[in-house]
Amino acid sequence: MNRPERGQGSGKFTVSSEEGRGEVARDKVVLAYSGGLDTSVAVKWINETYGLDVIAYTCDLGQGQDIEAIRRKALRTGAVEAIAEDVRNLFVDYFAFPSLMAGALYEGKYPLATALGRPLIAQLMVRVAKEHGAVAVAHGCTGKGNDQVRFDVTFQTLAPHLKIIAPVREWKWTRTEELNYALEHGIEVEATKEKIFSTDQNLWGRSIEAGILEDPWIEPPPETFQWTADPKTAPDAPEVVEISFDRGRPISLNGQDMDGPRLIEELNVIAGRHGVGRIDHIENRLVGIKSREIYEAPAAIVLHEAHREIEFLTLSKDALRFKTYVSQAYSDLIYNGLWFSALHQDLMAFVVSNQQYVSGTAKVKLFKGHAMIAGRKSEHSLYRHELATYDEGDQYDASAAQGFIKIHGLAQTTQAKHQMLKGTGHRLELPSIIPPS
Ligand code: ARG
Repeated sequence: MNRPERGQGSGKFTVSSEEGRGEVARDKVVLAYSGGLDTSVAVKWINETYGLDVIAYTCDLGQGQDIEAIRRKALRTGAVEAIAEDVRNLFVDYFAFPSLMAGALYEGKYPLATALGRPLIAQLMVRVAKEHGAVAVAHGCTGKGNDQVRFDVTFQTLAPHLKIIAPVREWKWTRTEELNYALEHGIEVEATKEKIFSTDQNLWGRSIEAGILEDPWIEPPPETFQWTADPKTAPDAPEVVEISFDRGRPISLNGQDMDGPRLIEELNVIAGRHGVGRIDHIENRLVGIKSREIYEAPAAIVLHEAHREIEFLTLSKDALRFKTYVSQAYSDLIYNGLWFSALHQDLMAFVVSNQQYVSGTAKVKLFKGHAMIAGRKSEHSLYRHELATYDEGDQYDASAAQGFIKIHGLAQTTQAKHQMLKGTGHRLELPSIIPPS
């Protein structure tokens, strides 16, 4: 299906038997619908440009919106059908928590909230497209970001037969042109003042970009933040949270067992009021651009901190070191939209195996923008008091240390004896950074 000229629909025109009113049923497209201006305009634009009927798809990943209201708005805007579903459990169990177990922080900073949401939304849209016999899928991403890649790659992987439509990437309008189109077509434009940032949010975090944030020298103004208190006005008393893990997965908060979405929701509130979870990142996008991104991810930051501490207690030194490679590969893969790859399954097999003893409880102290480890315990702890103590009960065999040190240092002492101590070439002194003149 090639893109037709505007107004010249290419959809298959058949008489709808159910209606029996001579109306035509056209081919369908499933659109990822957020309820915002772009995707609302997209409903009409797709009708006109491609001659397709739009099925609007909205899901709740914990972004805190009324998805039923969004569904109704989709129908008012001209969608022939609108679907809204709560998929917070899927999102947490299959996306957010696995990424936590993998230690996935993109470039060491970003917990990947937006990046984790995309493959799930795309996968669910493919399911809807198949159920409704749609010929295409559509999303409201621009042509500059990572999200278009994540959507498109997932669609192409799971359903290569579906045509992909990206109205915002295709129409190349200015904001004014878009608003004019909305007015001409009677599309609801919210009366609120113009949006100053581009944002996306779900349980795992909030992403904020554009506007004044495009200057990396400018400190994000207060209105950037919605989930986190300014550390200056955060409570003067610290608050300690206890988080328990079972094989890498968070299972309880402050001694109370709870499901993933609720645990994250509660922790977002608690950590957010202490100003924890603000991230300011100059990020390397997949499309080659460096961009300045602000994130708020109170729960994700606290959970990563707590989880890592249980790992320090329960993973061997070698396992910890090896895992840094896996964490990086895993976070790149998520960021780059390659969720449905075989490599992901391989990495996850490692992570699941690697996490089998990562059970226990961490105490994290929240105070004025900081989340600090205050204590940790695990029944599988490799921290052994009988080996570590300088007090009574010491079982460490210090007499073995002397021989160990001799062998450990053998290569270096041999080298010094036969090379540097002979006074030629390298000398036994501090390696110098500035070459001697
Ligand atoms: N830079 C982040 C990412 O690629 C966040 C994108 C946020 N999207 C948005 N529509 N504001 O994952």
